[in-house]
Amino acid sequence: MNITIVGTGYVGLVSGTCLADLGHSVHCVDINREKVEMMQKGKVPIYEPQLEEVFLRNIKGGRLFFTTELKEAMKVSNVIFLALPTPPGEDGSADLSYVLNVAEQIGDLMTEYTLIVNKSTVPVGTSEKVKNLIQTKTKFPFDVVSNPEFLREGYAVEDFMKPERVIVGGSSQRAFEIMDRIYLPLTNAGIKMIKMDEKSSELTKYASNSFLATKITFMNEVANYCEKVGADVDKVRFGMGSDERIGNRFLFPGLGYGGSCFPKDVKALIKSGKEVGHNFQILESVEKINQKQKTILIPEVEKYLGGLEGKNIAIWGLAFKENTDDIREAPSLEIIEQLLEKGAKVTAYDSIASDNVKKIWKNKITYADNMYDCIEGADALIIATEWGEFRNPHFNILKEKMKNRAIFDGRNLYDLNELAFHGFYYKSIGRKL
Ligand code: UGA
Repeated sequence: MNITIVGTGYVGLVSGTCLADLGHSVHCVDINREKVEMMQKGKVPIYEPQLEEVFLRNIKGGRLFFTTELKEAMKVSNVIFLALPTPPGEDGSADLSYVLNVAEQIGDLMTEYTLIVNKSTVPVGTSEKVKNLIQTKTKFPFDVVSNPEFLREGYAVEDFMKPERVIVGGSSQRAFEIMDRIYLPLTNAGIKMIKMDEKSSELTKYASNSFLATKITFMNEVANYCEKVGADVDKVRFGMGSDERIGNRFLFPGLGYGGSCFPKDVKALIKSGKEVGHNFQILESVEKINQKQKTILIPEVEKYLGGLEGKNIAIWGLAFKENTDDIREAPSLEIIEQLLEKGAKVTAYDSIASDNVKKIWKNKITYADNMYDCIEGADALIIATEWGEFRNPHFNILKEKMKNRAIFDGRNLYDLNELAFHGFYYKSIGRKL
C-alpha cells in the first residue's frame, strides 16, 4: 500500500520506517526542510537503537521517501497517518493546532477517498473534530480513525514490530478494512488488533500512560515508606510483582517518571477531565508526588556533606532514561538546578544526552568525556540514569578518584553489600541491607 506519514518526529519517523519494513511504500512529510534533506541523504535525525539499520534498508529498497510537500505525497497515497506533536498548552491541555492545521490542508488537497489515521496522542473527541473540519473543506468521501502508538523510546522499533496489541478506533467498515491490510503482516504473526470506537481508542492511550505513571508513582511512595519503616522495596517489589494481576513490570522505584509522554499525558488527562467536570484526583496526586521524587536525593546529599556550597557533585546520566538522548522532563535537569541554586559545582556525564543538556545549562556546569573523568575529586556522585555502562563500574577507580566515597543512586543499580564492602556511603531508593 502507499502510505503518507505527516510529521517525522519520534512516532512519525519510527512508524514510517517500520511500515516501510512491513512492505508498504511510505512517503514521510515534514515542514522542516533541513531535516527532510538530511533524511533524504540517509541520516537519521534521532538516536534510537535499530532505527538506522531499518531506515537505510528501506531507503535502499525504494520503499521510504521524504518530502516537504504534502501535495506530492497525497498524489500517490490516499492513506495519511498524522504523527504530529500535541505539546501541552499553558494550562496543561494538549495543543491541537498542528493536527487541525494539517487536517485542514488534507481537506483542501483531497481528490479521492482518503483515510486519515491519527497516531498522535490526542484528547477524546479529536477524531470528531478532525472529521468536522475536513467535512467543511471537501466533497470527497473520507474516514478518520484513531490508531494510538504505544512505543517506548529506546525500544521503539521492537515495540512497533512486536506490539502487545494494535488499537484501532473507527466507525466505518471501509476504514477498518484498510487498517486490516496495513497491519496484516503483524496480525498474521499473531498480534491482536483491537477495534473500537474513536473516543474509546483515544482514551485507551491516555489511560494506559496515566496508569503506568500511577504504577511507578505508587512504587515510589512504597519505596519512600520502606525507608521510614525499615522494609526493603526490592523484596516488596518481587513479592507484589509475582501476582499476575499486578505484574512485575513498571514497579521500579527511582527518581520519578520523565520523558515526553507520561508527564504530558497525565497533565492532559487531568485537564480534559476538568473540562467535563470530572476530577482525576488520583492523577493530581501522581503529578505532585512525581515532581517531588525527581529531587528526593538532594536533601540526602546535603545532609551527608553538611551543605552543598562549594561542593563538587558528579552526575552520571542526564537522559530521562537509558537508551535515549531525550532529556525532556528528565530528573537530571531539576537536580542540576537545585545543586546550582545551593552553590554546588556540577560535573556531568552522559554518553549521548550531554549535547542536549548543554543547550540548557550551557557552561554553568562541566561536561565530562567519560564516567571516570566525571568523578575526579567529587564530594559525591549522583546517578540519575540507568545506562548500562554505570551498572558495573570499577569501584577501585571510584575510590581513587573521588574525594569522598559517597554514591546517591536514583536508579538502584548496585548491590548494597558490595558497596558496603568497598567502604562507600551508598544511598539508593527504598532499600536496606
Ligand atoms: C511511554 C510508554 O511506555 C509507551 O508505551 C508510550 O507509547 C510512550 O510513553 C508514548 O506515549 O509515546 P517512554 O516515555 O518512551 O514510553 O518511556 P518508558 O520506558 O515508559 O519510561 C517512562 C518513565 O518512567 C521514565 O522516566 C522511566 O525512567 C520511568 N520508569 C519506568 C520508572 O521510574 N520505573 C519503572 O519501573 C519504569
